[in-house]
This record gives sequence, structure tokens and C-alpha cells, in this order.
Amino acid sequence: MRITLIPLLLVLAAACVPALCGKGEQLVLQPEAPVETRSRFAALDDVRLLANGLLQLGQSLREFVQKTKGQINDIIQKLNIFDHSFYQLSVLASEIKEEEEELKKTTVVLKANNEEIKGMSFEINSKVDNILQEKSQLQNKVEGLEEKLSSLSHGLVTSEQLTEITGLREVIYSQERSITELLKAVKEQSDQLNHQKLQIKIMEEKLTVDTLTQETIERMPEIFNGDAPTLTPYLTSSSPSTTDMMNLPSDCSDLFNRGERASGLYAIRPTGAEPFMAFCDMSKDHGATVIQRRRDGSVNFDQIWEKYENGFGDFQGEFWLGLRKIHSLAAQVNSVLHIQLEDWKQGRRFIEYRCNLSGPENNYTIHLTHLSGELLDPMSNHSGMMFSTKDRDNDNHQDSNCAHNYTGGWWFNACGDTNLNGRYFHMRPKGRSERKRGIQWRPGRKNSYSLKFTQISVQHVASPRTISSTSVSSEPGVFL
Ligand SMILES: *[C@@H]1O[C@H](CO)[C@@H](O)[C@H](O)[C@H]1NC(C)=O
Ligand SMILES: *[C@@H]1O[C@H](CO)[C@@H](O)[C@H](O)[C@H]1NC(C)=O
Ligand SMILES: *[C@@H]1O[C@H](CO)[C@@H](O)[C@H](O)[C@H]1NC(C)=O
Ligand SMILES: *[C@@H]1O[C@H](CO)[C@@H](O)[C@H](O)[C@H]1NC(C)=O
Repeated sequence: MRITLIPLLLVLAAACVPALCGKGEQLVLQPEAPVETRSRFAALDDVRLLANGLLQLGQSLREFVQKTKGQINDIIQKLNIFDHSFYQLSVLASEIKEEEEELKKTTVVLKANNEEIKGMSFEINSKVDNILQEKSQLQNKVEGLEEKLSSLSHGLVTSEQLTEITGLREVIYSQERSITELLKAVKEQSDQLNHQKLQIKIMEEKLTVDTLTQETIERMPEIFNGDAPTLTPYLTSSSPSTTDMMNLPSDCSDLFNRGERASGLYAIRPTGAEPFMAFCDMSKDHGATVIQRRRDGSVNFDQIWEKYENGFGDFQGEFWLGLRKIHSLAAQVNSVLHIQLEDWKQGRRFIEYRCNLSGPENNYTIHLTHLSGELLDPMSNHSGMMFSTKDRDNDNHQDSNCAHNYTGGWWFNACGDTNLNGRYFHMRPKGRSERKRGIQWRPGRKNSYSLKFTQISVQHVASPRTISSTSVSSEPGVFL
């Protein structure tokens, strides 16, 4: 632009200078002019020359304006492209909104950047608008000048008109300067845009990584497929002295009756069975032998028959005592099955059943009679059921393996409304089929809900037991 403009101005100056010299009083006082008419003709020639120069200037200005317009169109097109990518980015942002809290935070940052860029493009647009306005003003001036030139062919160039020409020249210079500034600003803006785009790209990559991490965390319980540690086996008579072995309490209730009040691990020996270690939960009224505890999902309960028969887990955390040991406990007279449950909102509540558990020859069939408690009873429906694991299907369902579908070993019916050996979920799973696999206690076929804490224990009382809510432990246990 400057390249075309400068020669133009030179032409203008060349055309203009003689015209200036031949103009006004100077022209009249010119001593060489012999005849007045001749000098008048000469003056007219100069005016024509000036007019020609100005016409050329006008034309060049028009070209210049058109060229600028072309460049401005280019800029607008580029801005449209940017706007398009902003749109795509906002679509992306709205997709991301559906993600978890952490992702939302990052999206907000991304959106803020988007807004910033939009603001910048708006700024550029308004600058371009200003330039366009100035251009049209300039064009108007040029047109006005052309009109004046045509009128000049009838008269002389006045000093007023000369000032206007000089003014015009200044306008052109200032135009050029502001266009250069504009181009510089546009370049700066596009540099900044590139920088922003880069940052957005970096953020997008980070988002992808975050999403992956999130998915990994969510899938953790699913991929958790480990083998649970086997619980301590039966005690052999070689460890403590034989007389000690003969003197062992038959269970935790017996131990309580002997005066022990501290919860913890003790050696017990149910009637007619081998001695073994068991966790005793001592309340102020009685002792209970704990046969199952869930509290943090640290142990995988989706185990095979052999594991459920012998026991697994960790006495200090989560465990299943084992069907053989449970059988020896629950085969004694007046066995009471005490179940404590806690959901994610309320405190612990309990339910009690009179219980009789058959041995391995009957696949540990359970017999339950509801006694009392604060919880509704969906468990009676499991009475008379054999124990099932994913590798030993003894349930009442014709076509399904309940232990396989719901995970964990249990006295599945078809499949029934309880499974306290299901999967431990820290978060509510999204899919229904996944939710069904949780730790269930669904009286009245309520929706699947996975519990936070469970403890099943066996107590023995002098027959016949009078059950009342004050006689059983509903205080917070020693575990949480
Ligand atoms: C347990 O059930 C079996 C079979 O039904 C029965 O033979 C046994 O006497 C019962 N034991 C107790 C203590 O109720
Ligand atoms: C115990 O379970 C096994 C394997 O599922 C089965 O074959 C057997 O018949 C069951 N025993 C009884 C008494 O039903
Ligand atoms: C158990 O899973 C099988 C296979 O996915 C399915 O066909 C069956 O309906 C499920 N049964 C129950 C009781 O959910
Ligand atoms: C007991 O369970 C069976 C099969 O799971 C079901 O059809 C029946 O309705 C249940 N009965 C009660 C009282 O919940």
C-alpha cells in the first residue's frame, strides 16, 4: 500500500508544484508574461495539469480503498474461521459438562479462555469497522474534491482549495499509519490466538488424561478380582496344652458368660468340633461370634466354594468365617443369627433369627425363624436354601446361576432379595445390572441399594430366649 501511495504523492507533488507557482498573484506579477491572455492560457494549462493530478490521486485512492477493502475481507474471513472453531470448542465444552466434578472445573477454565478469545475477535472486528468508516469518509472527501476540480476548470485554485489538498495528503498519511497499526494489531492478535489455541490444546490433552484416570478409578472395583487371604485354619492340639484345649469356650457367648468383656480374637471350640480362632463382639449384655463383616470393600467376596467353606479375609477388616466353622457354631441348640446393617445415611440397625445350619452333606442348608429387630425381613424367604457359589449352583433359579449373576456366595433362592456377600460399592454404580451385584437387603423388592456395613454373628442363649430390643446390641460397634 505504501509502495503505491508514495509514487502517487510524488506525481501529485510534481503536478502540484508548478501549479502552485503559476497560481494567484504570483501569476499576475510574473514579469516574463507579455500578454495577459497568454498568461491566462498558461494558468489554465497549469490548472488542467493540477486537475489531472488530482484525478489521478482520486483514482489511486479508490484503488487503495478497494485494496484495503479486500484485505479487510480477508481479515473478516479469518475471523469467521476463528469463530467457527470457537463454536466447535463450545460444543466440546458442553459435552465435557456431563463429566464428573473435577472435569467441570477444567471445563470452566476452557470456557473462560473461549470467552477471552471471543472478546479479542470482537475487538478486532470493531477496529476493522473503524477503519472501514474512515475509508468511506476518505472516499467522500475524494469525491468532494473531484467535484471541486471540475468547478476549478472554470476558475482558479484558491488558497482554500490548496489547504484542502494538503489536508487530504495528511489524511492519506494518517490512513496509512492507522492501517499499518491495524495490521500490527491483527498480527499481535493472531499471535495471541495461536498462543490461546495451544493452551486449549494442552488443556484438552490434560482433560483426556483426567478422564482416563477417572475411568480407571471407577473401574477399579470391577477389575478387582483378587484372591482373598485364607483365614487361620483349625488349631492343632500341638499349640496350647491339651488341657487348655479341652477348657476352651464353646463360642463367644460362653466366653462372655465366663466374664470376658473385651472384643477381639479368641480361641473357641464349639461342641463336638475342632478348636479355631474367632472374633468376639462383646456388648454389655452378651458375646457374639462374628461370622461375616463388610466395612470397606478391602476383601473380594466373589470367591469359589472352597473359599466359602474354609473362610477368607482378615479378622481385623473384612472376612467370612467359613461354612464349616459357621456350621459347628450354628448346629448348637438355641443359635441366634444376629445381623447388623448400616446404609450410607442412617446408623446401624439389626434383625435376629433363630437359626439352624446343616452340614456339608446338605450343602449348608439354612433354616431361619424371624425373631425380632428394627429391620424388615426379606431373609425368611431364603430359609431352607442350600448355599451357592459361582462354581456350585444350588439355587432355585432354573435358568440362572444366581451366585454368578449377583457375585458372592449366599443362600440364594431364585435369586431372592438379600445377598450380604455381594460387591462392595463406594459409589452408586451407573448400570442396573451392576447395582444388583451390590450388598443387598431389599425388603419388599425395593430398588437395589448397596450397603456400607454388615456384620453377621451367632449368639447362644439359655433357652428359651426372650428377645427384646434392649437385650441386643444396637450401639455403634468397635469397627468404625
Ligand atoms: C437343625 O436342622 C436339622 C435338619 O432340619 C435337624 O435335624 C436338627 O435337629 C436341627 N438342629 C437344631 C439345633 O435345631
Ligand atoms: C450339593 O451341591 C452339589 C453341587 O451343586 C450337588 O451336586 C448336590 O446334589 C447338592 N447336594 C444336595 C443334597 O442337594
Ligand atoms: C443371569 O445372567 C444371564 C446371562 O447374562 C441372564 O440371561 C439371566 O437372565 C440372569 N438372571 C438373573 C436372575 O438376573
Ligand atoms: C420369595 O422368593 C421367590 C423367588 O425369589 C419369590 O417369587 C417370592 O415372591 C418371594 N416371597 C416373598 C414373600 O418375598
